[in-house]
Amino acid sequence: MAESFDVIVIGAGPGGYVCAIRAAQLGLKVACVEKRATLGGTCLNVGCIPSKALLQSSEHFEEAKHKLAEHGVNVGQVALDLKRMLARKGEVVSANVKGIEFLFKKNKVTWLKGEGRVASPGKVQVNGETYETKHIVIATGSESIPLPGVEVDEKVVVTSTGGLELESVPGHLVVIGGGYIGLELGSVWRRLGAEVTVVEFLDRLVPSMDNEVGQMFQRVLGKQGVKFKLKTKVTGARKGNDGVTLTLEPAQGGPAEELKADVVLVAIGRRAWTDGLGLAEAGVALDERGRVKVKPGEFATSVPGIWAIGDVIEGPMLAHKAEEEGVALAELLAGQHGHVNYGAIPGVVYTWPEVASIGETEEQLKARGQAYKVGKFPFTANGRARAMGDTDGFVKILADKATDRVLGAHIIGPDAGTLIAEIAIAMEFGASAEDVARTCHAHPSLNEAVKEAALAVDGRALHI
Ligand code: FAD
Ligand code: NAI
Repeated sequence: MAESFDVIVIGAGPGGYVCAIRAAQLGLKVACVEKRATLGGTCLNVGCIPSKALLQSSEHFEEAKHKLAEHGVNVGQVALDLKRMLARKGEVVSANVKGIEFLFKKNKVTWLKGEGRVASPGKVQVNGETYETKHIVIATGSESIPLPGVEVDEKVVVTSTGGLELESVPGHLVVIGGGYIGLELGSVWRRLGAEVTVVEFLDRLVPSMDNEVGQMFQRVLGKQGVKFKLKTKVTGARKGNDGVTLTLEPAQGGPAEELKADVVLVAIGRRAWTDGLGLAEAGVALDERGRVKVKPGEFATSVPGIWAIGDVIEGPMLAHKAEEEGVALAELLAGQHGHVNYGAIPGVVYTWPEVASIGETEEQLKARGQAYKVGKFPFTANGRARAMGDTDGFVKILADKATDRVLGAHIIGPDAGTLIAEIAIAMEFGASAEDVARTCHAHPSLNEAVKEAALAVDGRALHI
């Protein structure tokens, strides 16, 4: 029998690697199994980090090409060096994944390289070796959902992984799915010169988003040149010498039409990854969507000593949600009181403008019969946004009608993903809109739009 541990985590994404580090900090003997050649999971290798690197680079290109002249900065001929842009993205990923390797060494977490399998409760197999452990943590993440009739080759029909690696800018990129990935990567390639059409099954973008924000988001992206085919499904794809011909049908039925694309990005969601883990043999129950079933807030699976966190369990598939669960579970395993506040997990779409949201949407409040107040403030009335030349969007705060407690916030605008952190803290502390409104905010800052929206909850915004 090989070495034994207190905790073996399977999967080194943001859920798994953070759980491993926190458990080691708390004095447990920890190993983390990862089959990829580098640590960091989907997020660092083919997800959050490379997509944000390309969003940043492509936004610089767009600014140089279309926005700097307005500021009196003339840069002459702007040319795209896509090879360099992709190489830079690779360098950013490399620095991040090496950082996790450093953190494992620093915290004495053993990296077991290879594919992990649950042999039985208390035993994990990696490369033919069996390791004993008190606790097994499943943190194997997720993969893209395939679309029947549309075969992915990662060259012409791509998932996000191929969509981060295109060797040239496609003439026409068709994105299937108007969610996080479709809109972020669609924005990247649109900025770099592609014509982009988003085909979405539902009647709105990012369906989980507050409707008012969603509508403005669609208008703003439309102004940028993105085309939309909502309430439409793709039923087939035919590859030819000059790209792909897609068959589209109205979601509710009706005559089909064809749409030609040079590249097709399939981004219709992700599903839990549990293949080859030996979960069924070990008796670990899955839910109706193939996710590992856990006791809410406790991460315990149906088998004692086997736990699960991150994309492989229910909840939003977000890196910071996985990380919070990793920390909470490590603390529970060490006898502490780890906890995740699922009511205050922000979600951010890193387009420009950014879109950020936390807590409940107006539609959700209405559906559960909650009496609420709304405060809204547009960036057109914010001095800093005007100085930046970034006035698209608004801040919307929803508060309990009786107690004024903040129930949710939805922002579309410059740096919305950073602005939402203020509301996350307010919600963690159970703050009222009045608390946010009475807090002194630096001038001139984008955050003043948050303060003004909080004032607007009580009908007393000052600058509109
Ligand atoms: P993962 O990160 O998927 O990690 C799981 C790891 O387990 C993988 O490395 C896998 O190789 C390994 N593994 C699986 N099975 C085994 C096995 N049997 N043995 C050994 N190892 C195994 N989220 C955000 O919050 N912000 C963003 O900006 C963002 N951008 C994204 C962009 C894209 C293009 C994509 C695809 C996702 C993005 N996400 C983003 C989502 C985010 O990446 C996931 O929510 C997050 O990575 C989930 O973390 P995890 O630890 O649960 O799983
Ligand atoms: P998504 O769930 O965000 O969006 C998928 C979209 O596809 C939905 O709007 C859905 O209605 C639509 N759809 C589903 N089936 C369809 C079909 N057959 N035809 C047309 N449209 C269809 O999923 P996405 O974009 O693939 O991303 C997966 C997950 O990764 C996200 O939910 C998010 O959790 C995470 N992510 C987070 C990011 C961030 O935090 N900035 C960035 C990228 C991904």
